[in-house]
Amino acid sequence: MKKLEVFGANKLNGHINISGSKNASLPILAATLLSNKKVCLKNLPNVKDIHTMINLLQSLGSKTNFYNKKLIINNFKQKKNFASYALVKTMRAGILVLGPLLAKFGNAKVSLPGGCAIGTRPIDIHLKALSKLGVKYKIVQGYVHASAPKGLIGSKISFPKISVGATENLIIAASQAKGTTVLSNCAIEPEIKDLVNFLISMGCSIKWIAKRKIKIDGVKETKETTYSVMFDRIEAGTYLVAAAVTEGNLKINNLIPSIIKTEINILKKIGAKIRVKRNQVHIIGNKKIKSMNIKTAPYPGFPTDLQAQIMVLLCKGNNKSLIKEDIFENRFMHVAELNRMGAQISTNGNKAVVKGNISFTGAELMATDLRASVSLILAALTAKGKSVINRIYHLDRGYEDIEKKLKKVGAKIRRLK
Ligand code: EPZ
Repeated sequence: MKKLEVFGANKLNGHINISGSKNASLPILAATLLSNKKVCLKNLPNVKDIHTMINLLQSLGSKTNFYNKKLIINNFKQKKNFASYALVKTMRAGILVLGPLLAKFGNAKVSLPGGCAIGTRPIDIHLKALSKLGVKYKIVQGYVHASAPKGLIGSKISFPKISVGATENLIIAASQAKGTTVLSNCAIEPEIKDLVNFLISMGCSIKWIAKRKIKIDGVKETKETTYSVMFDRIEAGTYLVAAAVTEGNLKINNLIPSIIKTEINILKKIGAKIRVKRNQVHIIGNKKIKSMNIKTAPYPGFPTDLQAQIMVLLCKGNNKSLIKEDIFENRFMHVAELNRMGAQISTNGNKAVVKGNISFTGAELMATDLRASVSLILAALTAKGKSVINRIYHLDRGYEDIEKKLKKVGAKIRRLK
């Protein structure tokens, strides 16, 4: 079992380059199934979830060639429409192949994603919306058996609740439905805008007609495309918090600051000094950290994927902070581990009260999910003494070269076999 050893406390200092976005790459990879022409994707992050999604595409018959972050996909002979549990269970985004497989073949058998540490991860919103495009489905032994006997027919659909995955699945499916689809109450995360830009680069006809409303005119054919995936805004936010929590001085490159303005404004309010340039954010941490209350929300609100990270920072605040997790039902798995490092966080349902003025001490720790594991690293960087973080396979799902990037700016961190 691989683990990470971290010695703290020390200030981070220097430059960090942000990689491509995992959460933009995954729906874009799923959407390549619509094409039977050559597709070239650039700036893909070299992380486990991307390899899992590529394996899933290969299991469906895609021919892929992945080298130095560039992926060439050919679907000339892509004929299969069965996505197995073995691949989908480790990466819930596997359900995103359902929409494109239905658009292409009119039927598909895809494993239910199953739950994970942060929640049950249902797909009821995906399925109800697909049925409005004419899809019939039944769930048999953990698989979705779905078919659209007359093909997908465009329709007007309003999501009952904002869902990133359901919005992505439906945008992809509607791109090759017959006629026009209008989706309302869509999620508008930047990764979804990136997916739409990718589909348009393939010749799809898609237009945002209001803040959360999108119009899609189905097309029969798509064309060859080369597309570069956007930067990973959650990785960027994570390193901004790393600078703030270690009172460091970091220049974070390869990003678009306007996309993370909520996070930047919150970090400024907490006390960090931040200067924004075209593709760079320069952050200098402050010894005085101001407590504040945070509520996670769909974009452009504060991202749930940064909740664990900002919690670490607020442990060093000058008072109490309240964190409300409004997206997932069980996303406080990091709290017990942080408390073992000296934090004093109490939770009640989806609310956490974070006591301030904490100084962390190193400990042996257990990662539970992707973002919780990185919050343990942030705490370990500012803790006195040695920390060992177990089960870092969670981390490898979504952070490219994290030890290398942190070592380069002065962290004492290494991977133990
Ligand atoms: C995406 O997950 C991201 N994953 C998550 O990032 C992110 O936390 C989440 O969006 C919210 O921003 C990818 O993009 C691959 P949702 P997704 O559908 O699509 C409920 C990470 O760390 N819901 O917006 O699964 C659901 O249970 C990951 O990179 C239903 O009830 O999120 C949750 O409570 C973690 N029924 C809420 O909606 C459904 O059919 C939001 O889920 C679908 C979702």
